Amino acid sequence: MLSYRHSFHAGNHADVLKHAVQSLILQSLKVKDKAFVYIDTHAGAGCYDLHSKEMDKTGEYLEGIKRLWEGSVPAAMQAYLDTLRRLNETGELSQYPGSPLLAKELCRPQDRLLLSELHPADFGLLQELFTKDRRTKVHKIDGFAQLKGALPPIERRGMVLIDPPYELNHEYADVVKAVVDGIKRWATGTFAIWYPVVHSDDVDFLQRKLSNAGLPGTLQIELNVVQGNNRFGMTGSGMIVVNPPWKLEQQMNELLPWLVDKLGQSPEAHFKLRWLSPPQ
Ligand SMILES: C[S@@+](CC[C@H](N)C(=O)[O-])C[C@H]1O[C@@H](n2cnc3c(N)ncnc32)[C@H](O)[C@@H]1O
Repeated sequence: MLSYRHSFHAGNHADVLKHAVQSLILQSLKVKDKAFVYIDTHAGAGCYDLHSKEMDKTGEYLEGIKRLWEGSVPAAMQAYLDTLRRLNETGELSQYPGSPLLAKELCRPQDRLLLSELHPADFGLLQELFTKDRRTKVHKIDGFAQLKGALPPIERRGMVLIDPPYELNHEYADVVKAVVDGIKRWATGTFAIWYPVVHSDDVDFLQRKLSNAGLPGTLQIELNVVQGNNRFGMTGSGMIVVNPPWKLEQQMNELLPWLVDKLGQSPEAHFKLRWLSPPQ
């Protein structure tokens, strides 16, 4: 079953958090000249038209990236916003880069990108976006299977983004398994897991399983735009980052209050930043 289409949600508050964290991790990998690998297990279509009929139905980006489009942003958001501005050269916000396009823009000639996407239509769009990019391999394959086969990468440095739709109940357990197995194969890799805040039981499951898995330093970053209620859809989202770059905690400490201010939809909007497993 592949009913999820990211085109309904592109640029929403959850994408802003995810892509801000993704770009900070990529920027930190670029501090050294040595090549790295970027692995995206659930890549999506790669680029989204914010004036599409799908987006007309939800308008989610209006409560997300649109709120940051005008005005200045903190230094930690600069690389992400610069990519967006290059994509929307006329100054009108009409295109939104998904995680693969953001990585395409932020990675260097020596880096390598490995993308998987299962939805036939989104896979086609993604493949088209990367036809001329010799650094990138795009596969229509299960992202968890691709990840398993790719580890450890020859570069020994890099990041994995794990961003499933969580439409199927077992996806939470799949994520935990992928990270626990992944760290066994590649102990120094950075694994960034996105999750929605919809049902507190699901978030508790992820937190508990990952906290008790004996993982290296694992940082949890969560942005709640309204108070959670277990009933009315996604009230926030989070990123759990195993082996985060050493500056990420401090960067998020500075950035999250600004994001709460910009993206909060009620006085109860708040953030969480804590270690599920302490840095070693
Ligand atoms: C949340 S979207 C990805 C968004 C993208 N990472 C971004 O930030 O722009 C999840 C995607 O995973 C795809 N998908 C679902 N199950 C998959 C699987 N087992 N392997 C690879 N892709 C899958 C869906 O078709 C969907 O496009």
